Amino acid sequence: MTLKLEPLHPLFVAQASGVDLTQPLSQEEIKDINAAMNTYAVLVWKNQPLSQAQQIAFSESFGPLDIGLKRVFKRKERLDDERLIDISNVDLNGELHRRDSPKNLSSFANQLWHSDSSFMSPKAAYSMLHALVIPSEGGNTEFCDLRAAYDALPANLKQEIKDLSAEHYALHTRIVLGDDAYTDEQKKAIPPAVWPLVMKHPGSQRSVLFVGVHAHKIIDWPIAEARIFLSDLLEHATQRRFVYEHQWEVGDMVMWDNRSTLHRGRRYDLNQRRELRRTTFNDVPEANLAAA
Ligand SMILES: [Fe+2]
Repeated sequence: MTLKLEPLHPLFVAQASGVDLTQPLSQEEIKDINAAMNTYAVLVWKNQPLSQAQQIAFSESFGPLDIGLKRVFKRKERLDDERLIDISNVDLNGELHRRDSPKNLSSFANQLWHSDSSFMSPKAAYSMLHALVIPSEGGNTEFCDLRAAYDALPANLKQEIKDLSAEHYALHTRIVLGDDAYTDEQKKAIPPAVWPLVMKHPGSQRSVLFVGVHAHKIIDWPIAEARIFLSDLLEHATQRRFVYEHQWEVGDMVMWDNRSTLHRGRRYDLNQRRELRRTTFNDVPEANLAAA
């Protein structure tokens, strides 16, 4: 079958169908999906009952999977395979987490606008998130288009930011949320990464306004001035006209390009279960990505 695409937003995001994600992908299908990602940046697949192994196999068609912050926190995880990131409010015994658990803190950090792993180098390329259990309301995921955000900047701001770089730090979101109890060993395990505020997306050659909540400094700027400016740029990038909100259904698989979008989870009732599984691979030379 061939890949079919139906736009879900005027600027980006398409519903994709015509490919069975439970089966190994052909090189042609990988090429077509990469081309669609270059255009739409977010693809929504419906009714994909992926096992853990199938999600890993599908994701690995595009690049070697990364474990992200697990290398810092080293918690015992509910899912056996470390390449699967447990986006849930469920503990090792299958019970809901305590309201103040560290895992819930990670979920709250995910409710701030971010690009997965922008605090690492290399940073994330695609993430794939598969829904297994969803709450009766809330818990949507929003995406914003950083290409459209860049295009819409006034000319003077484009000029001002063209040679600026920001430092992205993993623990910044945690500190913002009131959690700064990290050991020196943990801090050393995840040093910040520096990225230009404007980057060319390699697949589409479009300019991207690369901001997000991990960006906590602008190189060579005073901290306070940088934070206000970064906050202004983030506010610009996340205007409703650049945002698509995904309302999850069980069996959905949503994949996004972290190099051209930001995303955030939305609030939901923590007394209800929410279980999704994420896979992510980094922007590394061995990734199976199509340049334009
Ligand atoms: Fe994320």
